[in-house]
Amino acid sequence: MARGALDGAAAERAESLLDRALREVELGLGELRELAQGIHPAMLTEQGLLPAIEALAARSTLTVVVEAELSARTRPAVESALYFTVAEALTNCAKHAGAHRVEVSVGEPEGVVEVLVADDGRGGADAEGGSGLRGLGDRIAALGGTLDVTSPAGEGTAVRARVPR
Ligand SMILES: Nc1ncnc2c1ncn2[C@@H]1O[C@H](COP(=O)(O)OP(=O)(O)OP(=O)(O)O)[C@@H](O)[C@H]1O
Ligand SMILES: [Mg+2]
Repeated sequence: MARGALDGAAAERAESLLDRALREVELGLGELRELAQGIHPAMLTEQGLLPAIEALAARSTLTVVVEAELSARTRPAVESALYFTVAEALTNCAKHAGAHRVEVSVGEPEGVVEVLVADDGRGGADAEGGSGLRGLGDRIAALGGTLDVTSPAGEGTAVRARVPR
């Protein structure tokens, strides 16, 4: 419709159509994002945390090295929260860090499951500066766990989540 209006002398009409299209795309994107955040990925359900994290790492635009060892599956809510921690931390590395390399480690010291995402970027992350890290902190806390962000300026960022099994 906008293209048609552009052909004639109705530039104003075209502009309002484009505004409307943009609003609808933004709305759709927001809904898609919410949906995607709520969905438990099939790979996580079927194969567990490690393959799902490997897939996230492979999809990143950065060089991501994964070091992981887990003896068994954990509660679905725990797997899900840790998966989304890695997803958000990797997204943040690509968006904010200017990093070259990211290390993801997964392990199970002393009855907890732990994930650590550490980049070699600019540091200076502020968990109160956006909704991503804050939301993760709430989600991890609801499972009795802790989320720590260590991010000295110029020295990279480490995000560590620990949740009881
Ligand atoms: N790996 C990182 N390196 C450098 N800065 C970071 C890193 N991760 C986060 N930050 C900084 O901390 C802020 C908070 O991160 P957070 O994920 O909560 O929000 P966001 O990514 O800006 O927005 P959202 O996650 O809600 O889309 C970011 O705005 C960014 O300035
Ligand atoms: Mg973020």
